[in-house]
Amino acid sequence: AQAPAVVTVTGAAGQIGYALLFRIVSGAMLGHGTPIRLRLLEVPQAVKAAEGTAMELDDCAFPLLAGIDIFDDARAAFEGANVALLVGARPRSAGMERGDLLSANGGIFKPQGEAINAGAADDVKVLVVGNPANTNAYIAAQHAPDVPRERFTAMTRLDHNRALAQLAARTGSHVDDIRHLTIWGNHSATQYPDLTHATVRGVPATSLVDPAWVQDTFIPTVARRGAAIIEARGSSSAASAANAAIDHVHTWVKGTRDGDWTSAAIVSDGSYGVPEGLVSSFPVTASGGEWSIVQGLEIDAASRARIDASVSELVEERDAVHALGLV
Ligand code: NAI
Repeated sequence: AQAPAVVTVTGAAGQIGYALLFRIVSGAMLGHGTPIRLRLLEVPQAVKAAEGTAMELDDCAFPLLAGIDIFDDARAAFEGANVALLVGARPRSAGMERGDLLSANGGIFKPQGEAINAGAADDVKVLVVGNPANTNAYIAAQHAPDVPRERFTAMTRLDHNRALAQLAARTGSHVDDIRHLTIWGNHSATQYPDLTHATVRGVPATSLVDPAWVQDTFIPTVARRGAAIIEARGSSSAASAANAAIDHVHTWVKGTRDGDWTSAAIVSDGSYGVPEGLVSSFPVTASGGEWSIVQGLEIDAASRARIDASVSELVEERDAVHALGLV
């Protein structure tokens, strides 16, 4: 039998954690041949709740579950981690300034980056879900100098999946008929869901939908879907966020399908004019456990302006993080 993969999940007692852990251990993330050893990290006051979730995980009698350990110490939690899902973060409270938000999250993602650097497995793959996800991933990566930077990623797969669903509904097609959608930039309201390269059953999406729908409905609906879910559900998206985290890691490990790409926020190598080192969403393929940015796409003027707007928000966040001494 295969050796268990060590999967560390932070914020394990939160609502995404509750939707995520069961699917990890069911085999949806790493495949049904890989046993899972969970290491859960929580703040001390939520350890008891995480223990309750662990009791439920035991009660599922998942054949792949090789053990669960719960910690309130990052160093211990990331020991030996092959996959690290950084879900716990400090949310923006009413009236909170960006500097305060970044400082609070720097206080979480700096020590977690250091702990990953100190003790994670050599092949560790890190996905940051907790917001502001791109910049939290940037902070963690800066504090893990011994881990290749490309192992730090942030999640825009939920935005990608939301875009697939919107385009499929509009065109009366199935999500599986769609190829080559892209989310660019920051996981925030400035993100750019780009269908200029997308096809639906091989037909260019731009020939199937009118430009006004793209500008006035598609882009804002995808970018503001999180707020719409809160409004409707009374709490933020959890199961769909957990699902996207499963998808992100599954694609990273198993690869993208032939003739398609997906979206993930990865460390920029300067492609498409995105400053090197920023954690920004790109069209990406995965193969052999590594992401590659799809090269050579033609970017029209309207797309260029939207990408630049989102990237400049990332630059501002990065500069703020440096000014605050968080890296
Ligand atoms: P939640 O508030 O239900 O759970 C967060 C959990 O993290 C809590 O149990 C809390 O105790 C824990 N936590 C806080 N600081 C921690 C630390 N230093 N170490 C370990 N655990 C810590 O929140 P929820 O709904 O589970 O969301 C988690 C994060 O995911 C939020 O930041 C949210 O904004 C973000 N998110 C990101 C999405 C994306 O597409 N990238 C989509 C949806 C949510």
